[in-house]
Amino acid sequence: MSDTDTPINANFKPRVFSGIQPSGGLTLGNYLGALKRFAMKQDEGIETIYCLVDLHAVTVWQDPEALRRQTREAAAAFIASGVDPQRSILFNQSQVGAHAELAWLLNCVARLGWMNRMTQFKDKAGKNAEKASLGLYAYPALMAADILLYHATMVPVGEDQKQHVELTRDIAAKFNHDFGVEFFPAPEPLIEGTATRVMSLRDGTKKMSKSDPSDASRINLTDDADTIAKKIRKATTDPAELPSEIDGLKDRPEARNLVNIYAALADMTPAQVLGEYGGKGFGTFKPALAELAVEKLAPISTEMGRLMADPAEIDAVLGQGANKADAIARPIVERTYEIMGMVRSR
Ligand code: AMP
Ligand code: TRP
Repeated sequence: MSDTDTPINANFKPRVFSGIQPSGGLTLGNYLGALKRFAMKQDEGIETIYCLVDLHAVTVWQDPEALRRQTREAAAAFIASGVDPQRSILFNQSQVGAHAELAWLLNCVARLGWMNRMTQFKDKAGKNAEKASLGLYAYPALMAADILLYHATMVPVGEDQKQHVELTRDIAAKFNHDFGVEFFPAPEPLIEGTATRVMSLRDGTKKMSKSDPSDASRINLTDDADTIAKKIRKATTDPAELPSEIDGLKDRPEARNLVNIYAALADMTPAQVLGEYGGKGFGTFKPALAELAVEKLAPISTEMGRLMADPAEIDAVLGQGANKADAIARPIVERTYEIMGMVRSR
């Protein structure tokens, strides 16, 4: 669906917003599911705004030094993946105060019943939800604020974030309805491509994640060529050969995952990959995938290393991005206060 299919969006110009938490090192899942697509949207000439959501990160405990380092590292990963701070706005959330302000206002629009349906909260809070922070519960309303603060119409995310973008639409619609305005658009989740859900290299039924305790389960964007190749060689697989048709991957999550990763890295469809490798075993396919992964990812990790050597330069980029973001966000949050009846007299 394109953003103009929702009638209200015809009143807003196409604008992309997305965010990533700087709560750990980024993975191949983040690259294929998010960063690579972020750079592609920018290259299509659409206005693109990308945010390192440090306010979201602290909904669970973060060591302050680690958070600072990971925020700079994530910024380096964006730039190394092709997000150009001259053509996209790239910044960290806490530097633009309007995010926290609009989040509060939207906390008062969102309903408890809606929040109770959010599966990510249930997953992250685990069995002991009483001990979870209030921020973790309110997390989706902050995410709605991130998106609506820019009147963004398109939100490229992985499959796991679809529910939060749908909640954002509900919050926007309720706000517009309650106050009799057409102020917020209805943002569309963009979930495209073969790698919207990259799975763990150890267990094809689990998402590849920066928070998985096993480092072998993921490829980190900071991994060097040898580490990348070794992790792919050791990835869990079944003994059968690759099928020649997609149907043959149905009950083989590990094989399907590796085929999808290959397809996404090579800009091919999974069917094309099977056209080439169907009938061949993992003894052939894994080295080919390792070579492809190293070819695509090693330059990113090298460039990240170069950028990380000058943290002051990264901070300057984030500061300039925050200024540009603020110029869009400030008038929108001011207007929201006014719509809700607050006196704004300075
Ligand atoms: P997170 O790392 O949870 O902050 O996610 C940042 C972005 O990367 C979101 O758009 C996620 O949907 C996407 N993402 C994270 N892990 C994966 C994965 N394993 N496969 C595809 N996309 C992912
Ligand atoms: N919740 C998202 C995640 O964990 C990160 C995020 C925060 C985000 N705000 C956003 C994504 C706004 C898209 C748009 O991946």
